[in-house]
Amino acid sequence: MHSSQAWIEHYRANALNQRIDWTLAPTITPKEVLVIRRSLQAWQLGETSDGNNLIRAASRYALRIDDPDYLKAILLFIKEEQKHGANLGRYLDGIGEKRIQKDWGDTLFRKVRHLNTSMESWTLAVLVVESTAQLFYQALKNATACPLLRQICRDILIDEAHHIRFQTERMTELFYAKKPLEQWLSRPVYKCFFFGVALLVWFANRGLFRAGGNTFKTYFAKMHYKYYKTLYRAMHSTNRQAAKPAMKPIEEIQLQMPTVPSLRVD
Ligand SMILES: [Fe+2]
Ligand SMILES: [Fe+2]
Repeated sequence: MHSSQAWIEHYRANALNQRIDWTLAPTITPKEVLVIRRSLQAWQLGETSDGNNLIRAASRYALRIDDPDYLKAILLFIKEEQKHGANLGRYLDGIGEKRIQKDWGDTLFRKVRHLNTSMESWTLAVLVVESTAQLFYQALKNATACPLLRQICRDILIDEAHHIRFQTERMTELFYAKKPLEQWLSRPVYKCFFFGVALLVWFANRGLFRAGGNTFKTYFAKMHYKYYKTLYRAMHSTNRQAAKPAMKPIEEIQLQMPTVPSLRVD
C-alpha cells in the first residue's frame, strides 16, 4: 500500500510529463472517423466530470481515517482525468467534430454517482470504469493510424495503469475494513457489478471495440483478466501489505503490460 503522500508525488511528477506532440496534425481518415466518432465523443464527455460528488465522499472519508493527504491525492487524480477529457476534446475540435453535452451512458453513470455517497461504492465504480477504459483506449489506438490520436491514447493508457493501482489499493483497504459477513455478501455483488458494467460498455462501444481488433469473446476474456488483477485481488488479499508491489516509474508500465498482448502500450 502506497501512502497518500506517495500518490501525491506520483501525480505531481506525472503532470510534468508531456507525451503528446501537439504540433502533429490529425491524419484520421473519414472511414475511421465514422467508426470512432460516437464513442470518442461519449468518452470525452465522461472524462470531463467536475468530480464534485467524489470530492465530497473523499473529504468525509479522509476525515474519518485522519488522512488529509488522501483528499489531495483524489484531487490530483480528478485533474488527471480532466486532462484526458481536455485532450480528447482538443482532438475532436482539431478534426471538426463537436463535443457532445449528453450521452445515455454518461447520464446513467452520473445518476448512479449521485446515489453514491460512500467511498467504497465510489472506489468500486471508478475501478470498474477504469478497467473498461484500458480496453477502450487500446481499441481506439488500434483502430486508427493517426499518430496524434495514438499518442493521446498512449498517454491515457499510461495514466490509467496507475489509476487502477491507486483504486485497487484503496479498494483493498475499504474492503477489509468491513465485517467478515459483509465481505462475504459483497464479493458476488461486486463481481456482478463489474461484469454488468463491462457488458454495458461493450454494447455502447462495440463498433469501436471490433475496429480495434476485439470480438465479444476476446473482450470478455480481457475483462476477466482485469477482474482478477483488480477487484478479485482487492477482495481476496490474504497479506495486504506484502501483496502490493513497490511504486514503479511511470514509463515502466510499458514493460509490464505485454503479459497480455492486447493490453500492450507501444
Ligand atoms: Fe481517464
Ligand atoms: Fe482513470
